[in-house]
Amino acid sequence: MTTASKVEQSKPPVVQLRELAFSAACAAAVRAATRLGVADALDDVPLSAEELAAATGAEPRALTRLLRALCCFGIFAEEEGGFAHTEMSRLLREDAPNSLRYIVLWCTEPWTWQAWGSLDDAVRSGRSVFKDLYGKEFFEYLHGEAAESAQVFNLAMTHSSRQSAQDFAHATDLAGASTVVDIGGGQGHVLAELLQKYPNLRGTLLELPEVVANADPRLRPGGELADRATLLAGDCRRAVPVQADVYVIKNILEWDDDSTRRTLRNVVGAARPGARVLVVENLVDDSPSMRFTTAMDLMLLLNVGGAKHTRASMSARMTEAGLEITDVRPVNGYLHVFESLVSQG
Ligand SMILES: C[S@@+](CC[C@H](N)C(=O)[O-])C[C@H]1O[C@@H](n2cnc3c(N)ncnc32)[C@H](O)[C@@H]1O
Repeated sequence: MTTASKVEQSKPPVVQLRELAFSAACAAAVRAATRLGVADALDDVPLSAEELAAATGAEPRALTRLLRALCCFGIFAEEEGGFAHTEMSRLLREDAPNSLRYIVLWCTEPWTWQAWGSLDDAVRSGRSVFKDLYGKEFFEYLHGEAAESAQVFNLAMTHSSRQSAQDFAHATDLAGASTVVDIGGGQGHVLAELLQKYPNLRGTLLELPEVVANADPRLRPGGELADRATLLAGDCRRAVPVQADVYVIKNILEWDDDSTRRTLRNVVGAARPGARVLVVENLVDDSPSMRFTTAMDLMLLLNVGGAKHTRASMSARMTEAGLEITDVRPVNGYLHVFESLVSQG
């Protein structure tokens, strides 16, 4: 345990709760610093608030207040020469190797602030509040009316899915398989990694039309993997019109149960008996970062009426769809893969 977290835990409960009730200020401050580009303007040498303000187009005294608020959380540090980076603030830089810039923006997009205010309604009904607030389902709104949020979502997914795609491809043995389909595979990082790992494998990315159009350049016409890749625009809740040896479903079965059931039913309906189905999810009862996973779980309730799964709930959805689970194992520090086969009978 770090010294900082020991200090936090030794605060009286009244202080801790009062601070927690103001968590939105922290999230807003991280978002503001990210949008202003403070971390990008700062390098190894500390800079004064005036210098940072000039570099980011901010008002110096207001920027000082923002940075002091963030320093309380270990995001930037105030030193004699001005404000300096900490390990956390460096992650806000766009060029950081493991940058969290777009995840931070995604977690604090404008629609999230309105949706959090209706969390009690969502808990009363057990349903998404998105349509009541915006008149449309979440992804319809995102792609139809919130171009900037959609772009942030794509970039956030790109950053996090690139790393996890490599982890997944590294941990997955597809020797003997000729075809794979990645359902709701985002820009196709998993597919690209798998095609790169197995030179004789052919693959399909099934995604919403808006997403397919921005697929990984390696998969698009002219790309190095394009001759073995098919980009298929569709809705997996309506149909999975692909036969393959292996079906990958990574981080999409977190929406409402009906969509999960329909998607799994469509996969089982399309697949040959004995085909492999690999479901990859963050589990809400088995994660080293429970605060993040449970927060994501609540956000899913708000926007798509969804939920992060427990080991038991994911297993139940797969079994009732006609899948025989053969193994559940970690892929990396935050994802598990459920390995299964389409029932023979
Ligand atoms: C959280 S992202 C996961 C992306 C990717 N599988 C990964 O792990 O990086 C969920 C994806 O599901 C896609 N999606 C949402 N609804 C869909 C639908 N009805 N049919 C196909 N894909 C869908 C979204 O476009 C988005 O790319």
